[in-house]
Amino acid sequence: MTHKIQAHGGELVNLLVTGEARQHLLDKAADLVKVSVNTWTISDIDLIAVGAFSPLNGFMQEADYNSVVDTMRLVNGTVWSIPITFAVDDETLKTFALNQQIALVGETDEVIYAIMDVQSIYQIDQQKEAVQVFRTNDEAHPGVQKLLSRPSTYIGGTLQVLNRPKPVKFEDFYFDPIRTREIFSEKGWKTVVGFQTRNPVHRAHEYIQKSAMEIVDGLFLNPLVGETKSDDISADVRMRSYLVLLENYYPKDRAFLGVFPAAMRYAGPREAIFHAMVRKNYGCTHFIVGRDHAGVGDYYGTYDAQHIFSNFTAEELGITPLFFEHSFYCTRCGNMASSKTCPHDSSEHLHLSGTKVRALLRDGKCPPVEFTRPEVAQVLIEGITEQLISSGI
Ligand code: ADX
Repeated sequence: MTHKIQAHGGELVNLLVTGEARQHLLDKAADLVKVSVNTWTISDIDLIAVGAFSPLNGFMQEADYNSVVDTMRLVNGTVWSIPITFAVDDETLKTFALNQQIALVGETDEVIYAIMDVQSIYQIDQQKEAVQVFRTNDEAHPGVQKLLSRPSTYIGGTLQVLNRPKPVKFEDFYFDPIRTREIFSEKGWKTVVGFQTRNPVHRAHEYIQKSAMEIVDGLFLNPLVGETKSDDISADVRMRSYLVLLENYYPKDRAFLGVFPAAMRYAGPREAIFHAMVRKNYGCTHFIVGRDHAGVGDYYGTYDAQHIFSNFTAEELGITPLFFEHSFYCTRCGNMASSKTCPHDSSEHLHLSGTKVRALLRDGKCPPVEFTRPEVAQVLIEGITEQLISSGI
């Protein structure tokens, strides 16, 4: 049975060149101007190549970039909320011209990842991009900080991809969209809910996942493992925490773990749309958006990432967002709840700040079971201890 969910924009993009054609292009790349690419850009190249970012077939050209920044759509009207761009400094710009092909080479490993047709070279307004995409130009915002640290000239154009980044760890949990679609079909799942996370799965996450699992066939637990800000818990430790959680608390045939090797943008509402479109490409029919999805600090309203979906029709999105209220453990109810299901005063709700939880874990103490499963807490305590030892503290 082939998977029924259409890729975003129609067709699942595949830019991986193989066999003789690849060898031919690798030979050709040896004579091209080489432009170095960092880990973030390599991850974008790879996600474009395997169709996770369908319908994109390269880095955005000027017209699509402007359209995405201004209207959250590509020029052809397809919904797209986050610019996927390649910034190049002035020195590098001098080495090639418009309509030339360049080879994109890893800055540390010298691997030729792709050949790019430079179809567009354009100057952008960083302040405008910041305000439109992140709703702020505050340099303390990690996404804005990243944006401002890059050059303000972008190059756009199609890619032919010759090599892929190798996972450092947890290789068995990397699946391309074409494969996740097959897996969901093999499992007989007609409806699949995607869950984005950059954190360990705490009880609130588990509660909203399981609420969704009551109405769909399967859960695709799809943690983001690309670049995150330095105080987020490392992907390695998080992966260990997901594994113990699934092992102990989820039915094996109803939840599937696979990583999302993308960088975190911290763009809140706009990133929620982006996250949903990408999960549609992986074959999900539904996508969970809880409170302050992809948010950071106080930049976004608690439910802004849900409200933004009302800008688009169900047909345009092609994936059903499942919205969840802020969830917590209520001591009176004796279970997980939200304001939709619990009548009690907030003094009866268990509230733990991230800072408080980190402090407990650092002291080797488990947060209450109502907040985190003990098995997960144990992994986090070990992870924090390892981190402290490796940083010499
Ligand atoms: S995110 O940056 O990847 O969104 P996180 O891993 O914390 O961060 O959240 C994953 C998903 O769970 C998001 O959809 C988020 O909105 C949702 N979420 C996190 N905590 C809660 C909570 N207490 N109540 C409801 N939804 C939540």
